[in-house]
Amino acid sequence: MDEIEYRPGLDGVPAVQTRISFLDLEHEQIIIRGYDLIELAKQLSYLEVGYLLLYGDLPQPDQLNALEATIRRHQAAIPPDLGPIYAALGERLHPMDALRTGISALAADQADQGGLDPLRGDGLEDTLIRLWALVPVMIAQAHSARTHKPFPEPRADLPFAANFLWMLTGVKPSPLETQVFDRLLILYSEHEMPNSTFAARVIASSLADPYGALTGAVAALKGPLHGGANEAVMQMLQAVSGPEAMEAYLLDRLQAKARIMGFGHRVYMHRPDPRAVMTKALLADLVSEKGGSALKAMCEVGERVMREQKGLYPNLDYYAAPVYHLLGIATELFTPIFFAARTAGLAAHLREQYGNNRLFRPRVIYLGPRGLTVKDGDRG
Ligand SMILES: CC(C)(COP(=O)(O)OP(=O)(O)OC[C@H]1O[C@@H](n2cnc3c(N)ncnc32)[C@H](O)[C@@H]1OP(=O)(O)O)[C@@H](O)C(=O)NCCC(=O)NCCS
Repeated sequence: MDEIEYRPGLDGVPAVQTRISFLDLEHEQIIIRGYDLIELAKQLSYLEVGYLLLYGDLPQPDQLNALEATIRRHQAAIPPDLGPIYAALGERLHPMDALRTGISALAADQADQGGLDPLRGDGLEDTLIRLWALVPVMIAQAHSARTHKPFPEPRADLPFAANFLWMLTGVKPSPLETQVFDRLLILYSEHEMPNSTFAARVIASSLADPYGALTGAVAALKGPLHGGANEAVMQMLQAVSGPEAMEAYLLDRLQAKARIMGFGHRVYMHRPDPRAVMTKALLADLVSEKGGSALKAMCEVGERVMREQKGLYPNLDYYAAPVYHLLGIATELFTPIFFAARTAGLAAHLREQYGNNRLFRPRVIYLGPRGLTVKDGDRG
C-alpha cells in the first residue's frame, strides 16, 4: 500500500471510465459525448444538450418533443408536501440547503410506491428526468417562500429556459435574456469529474437511490471552492464601488493572501476556461441590451489584475455572476441555478454508474501509530 503515490485531493487520479465528457486540455476543448461544449452552446438548446448527455446521441424532433412533454408533466405535478416544507424552513436556510432538503423530500412519493430501487425496471430514467424537471421548480418555490412572494407557477407555454427564468423572477424574459440564460445552462450542464459529480457517483455506487446521490451532490456543490464561487463573486463585485476601485481592492486582498473567487481551477489553473471566454461574450451582449457597463468594466479590470499578479484566469463562475445579476436574479440563487443546470450531467453520470457499477472503496495511507495496548495509566 505505502508504495502507491499519494495525491492529495486525488489530483489527476482517474476516478472512472466514462463516455460522457472529458476536459481535453491539449485541444482546449470540453468534450461532451464527442462534441465541443462551446459549439453545442452556440447551436443547440439546453434540453437538446441534456438529451445528448443522458442518452449519448442528439435527439430527433420526436424524441425532443417527448422529453419536453415528460418535463412539463413532472413540472405540472409538484408534490403538495413541498410548499409546507418550504414555508416551515422560512428564511433560515440558504437556498442550496433548502434545495438539499427538497430533493430529499421528493423521494417520499416514490418511496410510497416502492420505486426507489435504481436498478428496477425502466423507472430510473423517469426518476432522473423528474429530478431534472423539479429542481428548477423547487429552487423557485423555496425562493418565493423565503422572500414571502407568490410563487410564479411553471408555464407550459414557455420553453425550458424561459420558464425557469420566469419562475425565478416573476417576469417573462426577452428573447435575448432567454438565449443568454439557456446558453449558460448549457455551459454549466456538465464538466467531467468535479467534486459534486464524484460525490454523486460515490453515493450511487452503493446502489443508493438517485435522490440520495443528488442530495449529496447538492451539498458538495454548495462549497465556496466549488459551485458557491459564483455567489461569492457577486458579493465581491458588490463590495467594490466601481472599476477604478477594483485594482486596489484585489491588490489588497492578494497582499493579505486571500483567495479571489472566480479564478483558478484544479484542471485549467493557468489556462483560460473556454466557458468563461464564452460567458464574457454573453455579458457583453446583455450589457448592450440592458446596460451595466460599469459592472462589465469592473470584471475586466479584475481579469487583468489576476492575470498580471497570479497568472490566473477567470473560471465560468466569474462572468456568470454579472450575467445572472443583469438577468435580475437574486444573488443567493446563483449556485442553485448552477446545480439545476448540472442536474442534466449528473443524471447522465448516475445512469452510467448504475449501468456499470463497482462500489467505490479506496484505501488510505496510514500515518498513525501501531501496536498500542491500553494500560491503566492511559485512561483519565
Ligand atoms: C478552484 C481551486 C479550489 C483549485 O485549487 P487547487 O487545485 O486545489 O489549487 P491550490 O488551492 O493548491 O492553489 C494553487 C496555487 O494557486 C493559488 N490560487 C489558486 N486559486 C487562487 C485564487 N482564486 N486566488 C488566489 N490564489 C489562488 C493558491 O493560493 C496556490 O498558491 P501557492 O502555491 O502560492 O500557495 C482554486 O483555484 C480556488 O480556490 N479558486 C477560487 C474558488 C473558485 O473560483 N472556485 C470555482 C472553481 S470552478
